[in-house]
Amino acid sequence: MKIACIGAGYVGGPTMAMVALKCPDIEVVVVDINAARIKAWQTDDLPIYEPGLLDVVKQARGRNLYFSTDTHKHVGEADLVFVSVNTPTKTRGIGAGSAADLTYWEGAARMIAACSTSSKIIVEKSTVPVKTAEAISKVLRRNCNVPEVQFEILSNPEFLAEGTAIQDLYNPDRVLIGGNEDESGQRAIQVLKSVYEHWVPSERIITTNLWSAELSKLTANAFLAQRISSINAISALCEVTGADVTQVAHAIGTDTRIGPKFLNASVGFGGSCFQKDILNLCYVCETHGVPKVADYWRSVVSMNDWQKARFVERMVGSMFNTVVGKKIAIFGFAFKKDTGDTRETPAIDVVHGLIREGANCTIYDPQVSETQMFHDLSLAKFQWDYPMSPTKADAKIKQSVDVHFDPYTVAKDAHAIAILTEWDEFKTYDYQKIYDNMVKPAFIFDGRNIMDTEELRRIGFVSFSIGKPLDPFVKKS
Ligand code: UDX
Ligand code: ADP
Repeated sequence: MKIACIGAGYVGGPTMAMVALKCPDIEVVVVDINAARIKAWQTDDLPIYEPGLLDVVKQARGRNLYFSTDTHKHVGEADLVFVSVNTPTKTRGIGAGSAADLTYWEGAARMIAACSTSSKIIVEKSTVPVKTAEAISKVLRRNCNVPEVQFEILSNPEFLAEGTAIQDLYNPDRVLIGGNEDESGQRAIQVLKSVYEHWVPSERIITTNLWSAELSKLTANAFLAQRISSINAISALCEVTGADVTQVAHAIGTDTRIGPKFLNASVGFGGSCFQKDILNLCYVCETHGVPKVADYWRSVVSMNDWQKARFVERMVGSMFNTVVGKKIAIFGFAFKKDTGDTRETPAIDVVHGLIREGANCTIYDPQVSETQMFHDLSLAKFQWDYPMSPTKADAKIKQSVDVHFDPYTVAKDAHAIAILTEWDEFKTYDYQKIYDNMVKPAFIFDGRNIMDTEELRRIGFVSFSIGKPLDPFVKKS
């Protein structure tokens, strides 16, 4: 069997590396139109940072795992074609700001149709709106000129989380495969199932119809994001009542019906999936005549926006209602630890909010490059998932933002530190040394609740943590 995967990004790359590792009998080729990305996959300097990924790639690369820009050749030869291309939120036209832009998906489908001389199973990996398979199937059937070629479409949504992708792929909670309910649909499901059965126990492979699989992906992300917005909503209440959100989360999480995961209050959720998928879900609801359902889910996103805005307000309010000309040290720019990914990171909104107030931000992140930060801070909303987005740094951003690769330099002469990513190394610094070199009063705003607040207060910091009883200094001012 030959597999091709269109799209060598955060999903396609790691997923195919694991498939190749576990299925030495199958040839796997990952193709992409982005030549620089493909080139990087061929070296040990991979285009994405993911713990354990390089080791998996090195074991399979050159044996049965290949990366190529020759999309037509490899897709043409494949029996199974995974499609893992970008599905950004539309920036203009009907559904702008919520509907998924299927331009890249449709482009991939037309390319598959053009180069296919044999029948293929097409596997949707990227998140798509419900009923995309139906539309794609029409594009494929009407554009392939070889009458005996048949296409069977499956939905096989990815549930991996960045930072733990290898573990998630190696030992998934479940694999979901949706397909048509007729005989050839069921046959296609069995083919894909047999790939995963190389390492996933068959009882963990769930099969459904196509629409259920497509909708399950959106629903899973909406539920996860909803948990974070729910605990973040409670964090605001904790701060004004003197309750501690960590204690509340622990107390409710021990109820087995609720469970302990995804209850960490934070400055807000980010990443390429949560907001995009919820907005996409809302658009599907609106276009299918259930706007009340859309309103319900949209509130999860607005609570997240409020949490980010609230964090900035808390910073400015605590610092005597002005940050004009003040240096603010930003610890962490990635949307979570153990990844260099910055898509929809809350750091973008927080830095924008602080700049609007007149602050100067100096940023440190162990995995994000300066170019990436300026690129992200200069983009308009929803542009971040477009491969051809502009990269020219905005003049105002250049004036107000600085990047350093030493946290002590970043914090030197700063009025405040804002912790926006939960990198483990942030807990290991010499905070006495940092405090000594800051302007007083020295503030720390912990947007991830990773610091020992008592210890920071002992050193002399005025310290704020999400959802924790407020520092008396902050309360009084
Ligand atoms: C998510 C889903 O978890 C994954 O199943 C899906 O395939 C893609 O989207 P990902 O975006 O990589 O994965 O990361 P995730 O660990 O879910 O975190 C998303 C955001 O929520 C991050 O910004 C994270 O910091 C934040 N978060 C997570 C919290 O603020 N609190 C929590 O308790 C958990
Ligand atoms: P994800 O997080 O879903 O993996 P990424 O943006 O990281 O998304 O990756 C998607 C990849 O798909 C990009 O590298 C992009 O260049 C690639 N891509 C988009 N359209 C096509 C296409 N028609 N053919 C090949 N690759 C494509």
